[in-house]
Amino acid sequence: MRFIQCKDYAELSLTAAKIMQEKIIQKPNAVLGLATGSTPVGMYQNLVKMHREEGLDFSAVSSYNLDEYYPLSSDDSQSYRYFMNQNLFDHINIDKSRTHVPSGEAKDPEAECARYEELLASSGGVDIQVLGIGENGHIGFNEPADILHAKTHLIHLTQDTIAVNARFFEKIEDVPTKALTMGMGSIMSAKTILLLISGAKKHRVLRSLFDDSITTQIPATLLKTHSDVIVIYDDAAYHG
Ligand code: PGA
Repeated sequence: MRFIQCKDYAELSLTAAKIMQEKIIQKPNAVLGLATGSTPVGMYQNLVKMHREEGLDFSAVSSYNLDEYYPLSSDDSQSYRYFMNQNLFDHINIDKSRTHVPSGEAKDPEAECARYEELLASSGGVDIQVLGIGENGHIGFNEPADILHAKTHLIHLTQDTIAVNARFFEKIEDVPTKALTMGMGSIMSAKTILLLISGAKKHRVLRSLFDDSITTQIPATLLKTHSDVIVIYDDAAYHG
């Protein structure tokens, strides 16, 4: 793991966007792995700015998102498809047919997970995978557990995650209790992983990445076995 410390969220967001920009310039048809949540929003804003002001070209890029609530319509304003359109896809020249998010509308979630996994395999591999991290160490929606899963699967969210995500909903009862998520293997198959960690609430989980222990109870620690992970964090996460 390579660690980059930034003074604040703005610097973290710009640093992450520059790494993405460099990848897209190097490889115009890059396959991006994308994430939702609060943390990558600033990076997306910088990428939109780079597109508008510097002509960063997404026309040949394709993308795969980590996860989606289940069941949930993709038109629902709480869906991750909606989030991606609002925060990034509607503001850049990406071909929407090349943007992929697991479908929260699929009748058969297992078939949808298998379809998504095949799609990922046919992409030739994700060049750079953006990750946020849960306070409990989840990545995607791979929640702490004795057993983790390698491939895209349906997962029951933990009460911790439901409580943390309730801030985006009117009331906690509205938070979906299930999700479709890429598995640990799907995430780890990316060539490069860009993990973004911001804010004092992430202090504990950031510290768990500094030693060499690995536990399924903190799924992000498995990233220590990957050969190209860049962790970008801010002072607030570092100091707690
Ligand atoms: P956050 O979520 O960026 O909103 O903190 C990250 C996550 O839960 O993976």
